[in-house]
Amino acid sequence: MDLFLYLRLIWMFLLASALRSEMQIKPLIYDEQLLWVSNGAGEVNTYRIPLLTFTSRGSLLAFTEARKDSSGDIGAKFIAMKRSIDRGATWSPTSFIVDDGILVDGLNLGSVVVDEQTQSVMLIYSLCFHQYQCSTSSTMLVESLDDGLTWNAPRNLSVQLGVKSFAPGPGFGIQKRLSPAAGRLVVCGHGTIEGDGVFCILSDDHGRTWRNGGSLKSIPYNQPKQSQDFNPDECQPVEMQDGSIMINVRNQNNYHCHCRMVVRSLDGGETLPVEELRFDHTLVDPVVAAGALQKEEVLYFSNPANSQKRVNMTLRWSLTNGTTWENEAMQIWAGPSGYSSMTSLVSNSVEDKKYIYLIYEKGHKESIETISLAKIHLYGGR
Ligand SMILES: *[C@@H]1O[C@H](CO)[C@@H](O)[C@H](O)[C@H]1NC(C)=O
Ligand SMILES: *[C@@H]1O[C@H](CO)[C@@H](O)[C@H](O)[C@H]1NC(C)=O
Ligand SMILES: *[C@@H]1O[C@H](CO)[C@@H](O)[C@H](O)[C@H]1NC(C)=O
Repeated sequence: MDLFLYLRLIWMFLLASALRSEMQIKPLIYDEQLLWVSNGAGEVNTYRIPLLTFTSRGSLLAFTEARKDSSGDIGAKFIAMKRSIDRGATWSPTSFIVDDGILVDGLNLGSVVVDEQTQSVMLIYSLCFHQYQCSTSSTMLVESLDDGLTWNAPRNLSVQLGVKSFAPGPGFGIQKRLSPAAGRLVVCGHGTIEGDGVFCILSDDHGRTWRNGGSLKSIPYNQPKQSQDFNPDECQPVEMQDGSIMINVRNQNNYHCHCRMVVRSLDGGETLPVEELRFDHTLVDPVVAAGALQKEEVLYFSNPANSQKRVNMTLRWSLTNGTTWENEAMQIWAGPSGYSSMTSLVSNSVEDKKYIYLIYEKGHKESIETISLAKIHLYGGR
């Protein structure tokens, strides 16, 4: 009996350590493809601001701004989309799902959010965000109810939210899986440079109606900023396993550090209390939009990890809910690299647990030359 127990304990110990080493993260780029190349061909000058999501049915959708006349943030654009039904191996041709015509201060992406109950994919973007030769900013939503194949006419959310300048993301919005507010859609973004800060909008009816949620305003608010002022900007929310929302934020004026701000909401996005704000000195940042993702109890972060320049696209991971980061980081691209966003498929398949997907701006001389998609095998690097 004692021997039996002893053997059982040894067996359990071996099993546990086998599982632990199985779970050890050693990322490897499994596949990488350039989805868009800004070569000035056709009707597009520059592709920028990539977004990525899985649909409820397991298709992978990539979106980007297709800037018609210049690489600048202002100007007329399309929203370009590609779709993959084989986990990113092959992609559809580009379709332009929104065209803002000849607007001087055209559309800006944006956040993509998927509702698992209705299987709707929603893309939220702004019009006239900079109020350049136009007076009213609008927050717009386009929706697909057939897995990204067709898109409804844009809906104007400013009728409900008001006409404040609001630039969602860029990245993804979340649907809360856990309490508080399970099922709620939460999309966070930022305001204009003067009226800047992180602002979240919320929907408790699957995207039908939206209201303003929590905010973390810049200081001094609605006034011109100086270097090192407190100026939270572009952001990416993720739901943590305790049901809180952790928002990783661009630190526009390098307040406190050349690194990321992190703020948490404990009430489903209703408030972003200043008590929940911290500065993550490990996440060195050149002032850019970055990616964050929570998968299987691991928090991932992507950005050009350099305090001055948009170079060195790097993937980091945390086994402690973002309190600390593992020392070994993975360099994805040493050269110029800018905005990034990540996704992965939540499913019971062992295959789907192995991969995360990173879309990012990548170039040789400048980061805005291409939009690249890297499929990363989390346990492949050994
Ligand atoms: C959106 O709605 C707001 C508020 O009603 C309005 O001022 C604005 O012009 C609308 N925008 C568009 C593009 O229709
Ligand atoms: C790239 O990122 C890694 C990890 O953060 C860092 O150690 C390295 O110094 C960075 N290199 C450059 C050139 O920024
Ligand atoms: C991370 O958060 C979860 C949920 O609150 C908790 O169970 C877990 O212990 C935390 N992990 C660490 C390392 O703190």
